[in-house]
Amino acid sequence: MNVVNTPRSGSITASKGSVSLVGAGPGAYDLLTIRAAKTLDSADVVYYDSLVDSSVLTHINPKARRVFVGKRKGFSAMPQQEIQNRMRDDALAGYQVVRLKGGDPFIFGRGGEELADLRTSGISVKVVPGVTSAIAAAAETGIPLTHRDIATSVTFVTGHTLDGSIPDLDGLVSSKRTLVVYMGVSNAGTIVSQLLGVGVPGSIPVAVIERATLPGQRLVKTTLKALTIDLVRYDIVTPALLVIGDVAALGGLDTEPVLPVHMTSKPSEPFAWVHHPMG
Ligand SMILES: C[S@@+](CC[C@H](N)C(=O)[O-])C[C@H]1O[C@@H](n2cnc3c(N)ncnc32)[C@H](O)[C@@H]1O
Repeated sequence: MNVVNTPRSGSITASKGSVSLVGAGPGAYDLLTIRAAKTLDSADVVYYDSLVDSSVLTHINPKARRVFVGKRKGFSAMPQQEIQNRMRDDALAGYQVVRLKGGDPFIFGRGGEELADLRTSGISVKVVPGVTSAIAAAAETGIPLTHRDIATSVTFVTGHTLDGSIPDLDGLVSSKRTLVVYMGVSNAGTIVSQLLGVGVPGSIPVAVIERATLPGQRLVKTTLKALTIDLVRYDIVTPALLVIGDVAALGGLDTEPVLPVHMTSKPSEPFAWVHHPMG
């Protein structure tokens, strides 16, 4: 790649080791990219998150050191700064380090923070994209996030910012605009109030997709005004996404979830399709 505004050579001393920020995809084993699998296969050390399904970990070089750095029961196994420090030290020691993250590293995955921090230390960093959960969840449930007739744009937003609040959603949902909310379940009440407060109709369709591409995946179709009740009624837990907009009404119609290729028969707990009547 030719980036013209970087020096031709010399000013940055690259370490022998490197760090690859790798997207593991939404969970299903066969949604990992070939590039991600190759990178895992040649790793010396892998730092991985809780959103990474165990089937994906089978691609890791058997000789690599594995370090779990995700959250368990709401607590981080390792503080973010310590993860960054350890990756830096491993790379400086000459190791090929992989930071394996659910979905895509640059979509609500702290990939940007880690990239900047490691580059500041002169570490060579590569990014391997992953299928972000919104794209996978929409595909699995037959929800076209854009559609020439009913959605000309889609916005990905976090339902949980650094200080625990939600971002300003004004203008993000309207006729022809789809909103996908990551990490939105615990703040759903606030999201609904904010959207109703800026004039979004309570009748607008909402799809909730839990455990997209994983055994036990569920789709709940509801509306903005019924969302919080239905999250409780169907006992929706993380990981789950909210798709808000007219396209959400198309979900689940004549679509079947695609089973991961390594499953020769249906999982014991089948994919559940929960359709709640709109209205
Ligand atoms: C910290 S964000 C990480 C997002 C990730 N980097 C990505 O690109 O998908 C975690 C949130 O992503 C969403 N998510 C991740 N995997 C999911 C899945 N398999 N099914 C539904 N939602 C998922 C949920 O909203 C979850 O709370």
